[in-house]
Amino acid sequence: MLCVNVELQERRYPILIGSGLLQDERSYPIKHGDRVMIVTNPTVAQFYLDTVIYALEKRGCVVDHVLLPDGEKYKTLESLNLIFTALLQGNHGRDTTIIALGGGVIGDIAGFAAASYQRGVRLIQIPTTLLSQVDSSVGGKTAVNHELGKNMIGAFYQPSMVIIDTLTLNTLPKREVNAGLAEVIKYGAILDYEFFEWLEQHIDELVALHPEALQHCISRCCQIKADVVARDETEKGDRALLNLGHTFGHAIETHLGYGNWLHGEAVSTGMMMAAALSEELGDISIADVSRLEKLLARANLPTVSPDTMQPEDYLPHMMRDKKVLAGKLRLVLLKSLGQAYVANDTDHTLVLNAIRCCTQTD
Ligand SMILES: NC(=O)c1ccc[n+]([C@@H]2O[C@H](COP(=O)([O-])OP(=O)(O)OC[C@H]3O[C@@H](n4cnc5c(N)ncnc54)[C@H](O)[C@@H]3O)[C@@H](O)[C@H]2O)c1
Ligand SMILES: [Zn+2]
Repeated sequence: MLCVNVELQERRYPILIGSGLLQDERSYPIKHGDRVMIVTNPTVAQFYLDTVIYALEKRGCVVDHVLLPDGEKYKTLESLNLIFTALLQGNHGRDTTIIALGGGVIGDIAGFAAASYQRGVRLIQIPTTLLSQVDSSVGGKTAVNHELGKNMIGAFYQPSMVIIDTLTLNTLPKREVNAGLAEVIKYGAILDYEFFEWLEQHIDELVALHPEALQHCISRCCQIKADVVARDETEKGDRALLNLGHTFGHAIETHLGYGNWLHGEAVSTGMMMAAALSEELGDISIADVSRLEKLLARANLPTVSPDTMQPEDYLPHMMRDKKVLAGKLRLVLLKSLGQAYVANDTDHTLVLNAIRCCTQTD
């Protein structure tokens, strides 16, 4: 088992990463008589709910659970309210603990419930998708969507512990695993050349879900994100680097309609566009662009634009991105593999050229 500590002043918390942690009652920071509300969905519950309940009851814990409907479209105030209703009906007080058991959607809703129920109760995150293990479980962002905007209602709220059991990835659809690998590759590309090289050597093991490779990979990603977040908790500087490929990717997600390409798939193609643009600007070498492309392809990720999207379709969406400041496009680009920076007001003609480089008809 590995442990990464997220250092946020007085809100320090550990992330445990191992294989078989869920069934081991010693993994949980819970004592005899504690009350717990597990928040999950039917998809995840069928595999892991009984295991978690069994382990917690072995610790002498009183366990309730609530099932939310599965999917991003249920990341709503209605789902949040289902949690509050379950807590109130069960007479849960200030001293209860909410356990989020599921992917990023469950983590974000249950996290916000913990931040706001009776002004805040203890939260334990058990992320079960690769994306949630390497991304949403670090940084303390919680939220639900509003019909007028994604993640518009939420809070920063840190868990008291994150428990990552790599065995949970065995039941995750392969496409979701690969989408998570896009964010993994992103960490190497923006901040850690050594990790990028490690990924080139071990990507096949990760795709095949080897526990040791996964443990190393997840802990490295959590460490990188934790360092960035600790330097920049409120997202003013460094944290922007985590958006490599995301402005292009959001254009794809919006154009195709949410859910057609997974977020990680859109980010994968978006990273190729950012790399092509960086190469055009004279920063990263062609050889490094092709190393990134090879690595993404080995993780079965797309590296070119969807065939239903034209290069001209991107910029209008990109200019509506929340990272646009005073009408100026802000893009995360690469100086080299392992070194990203934020570019302000890049020439739109160059951006369009880069998108063309990553279009299938080329
Ligand atoms: N808080 C943050 O910092 C942060 C960061 C990134 C993303 N997010 C949020 O995360 C969400 C996306 O998360 P996601 O990609 O994990 O998607 P998700 O939570 O929708 O999970 C994807 C699918 O896999 C299922 N699933 C989860 N674990 C499984 C398992 N072990 N076996 C089988 N099926 C399983 C889920 O039920 C769902 O159907 C978005 O809402 C996004 O806004 C938050
Ligand atoms: Zn992302």
